[in-house]
Amino acid sequence: MKELAEFLAWYDQQRSRPGSTVATLPNPKFCDSSGEELISFSTNNYLAISTSQRMKAAAIEGIERYGVGNCESRLLSGNLEIYADLERRLARSKRQAAAMLFPTGYLANVGTLSSLPRVALLARPVGFTPSSCSSYAYFSDAFNHISIKEGIRASGAARASYRHLDLNHLNTLLSRSTATNKIIVTDGVFSQDGDIAPIPDLLQLAERHDAYLYVDDAHGTGVLGSRGGGILEHFGVASDRIVCMGTLSKAYGSIGGFVTAETHIIEALRLTCPAYGFTSTLPPDQVFAVNAALDIVEDEPERRERLWENQRYLLSKMQELPYRVISCATPIVPLLIGNEARADQLATALRVRALHVDSIRFPAVPLGAARLRIQLNAKHTRRQIDHLVGALCEISQLQECCPLV
Ligand SMILES: Cc1ncc(COP(=O)(O)O)c(C=O)c1O
Repeated sequence: MKELAEFLAWYDQQRSRPGSTVATLPNPKFCDSSGEELISFSTNNYLAISTSQRMKAAAIEGIERYGVGNCESRLLSGNLEIYADLERRLARSKRQAAAMLFPTGYLANVGTLSSLPRVALLARPVGFTPSSCSSYAYFSDAFNHISIKEGIRASGAARASYRHLDLNHLNTLLSRSTATNKIIVTDGVFSQDGDIAPIPDLLQLAERHDAYLYVDDAHGTGVLGSRGGGILEHFGVASDRIVCMGTLSKAYGSIGGFVTAETHIIEALRLTCPAYGFTSTLPPDQVFAVNAALDIVEDEPERRERLWENQRYLLSKMQELPYRVISCATPIVPLLIGNEARADQLATALRVRALHVDSIRFPAVPLGAARLRIQLNAKHTRRQIDHLVGALCEISQLQECCPLV
């Protein structure tokens, strides 16, 4: 325990240093210390449905019918029909054959990616013998979400990281690999940069190298595509080579995660993925809430339209300000600040102006690439966006802050 004790003493000293680059816990979100309400520009609730009457009524109905928890796993007595119904609906929304639910999106990634290379291995004691020697390798975008990186690491398979969105680099790595099973892994929308992976090009590479393509659609689900189906709908792609992950905790306003793929992959994962079979299920009320969310995504397209109008409005206003906008592709609009202390200072200055914008810093992004991550939602008004833009303009001139990159 020596290193841990030394680290804890060091951390204690560092975090109280002015201008320190070590992270501290963020303040609670919606109120400042005087209890005054803040306007949040940092929520994943893109369609602003988590507090809608339809979602609340659905969750209450779920509680009335099933209680507050299911208290079991799907592989034992917890396999309620409502889960299978929701899985069928989620699979349809991604235009894939089958889906499986997880208690969170994080677990969906860690569970699926750690299990895929072990599915066949687990079948050996019950008689499966591969015709030849086999090996697995993951090829993962350097900016992928931490849950992807954790899942890949836990799989024990070979792994290579390609430079962010650099398909030439990916092609070289795939060509050099001798693995007999290759899996390319990418975020659909990159959570800290807001840019979008070129799924059709990645799929072409997957076909050329006989690989699978795993897409994390956490931030695209409900947001991208003409009907909110996510990144596959956005690009109009479908393939049995694609395994698509989504979360229920962002545009769908609830909690939970899911993976969609062709039927055999899902069936094999159900039996072999411990993060699915050896943990308790999503609470039933959340299943009811997510069904309501899917209804809302279908019946209230105006929410998605409003979200994108807000995104375009903010971007048009940002052109006049001295910030570097990292990407303009999605409702995630990150402003590159660079210095960690400077990003925190700016977030605090916004907070004083009744605005909440997260300062994103190492280890979520590389050291020296700290940013203010603005996320639009369907409920923001023009007035609120104008207030944010005015505040960003004002604080860019603050004397005590170091210069913007
Ligand atoms: C790209 C990405 N994948 C996965 C997750 C995990 O999803 P959840 O919060 O539903 O567990 C997140 C959450 O921040 C994310 O941004």
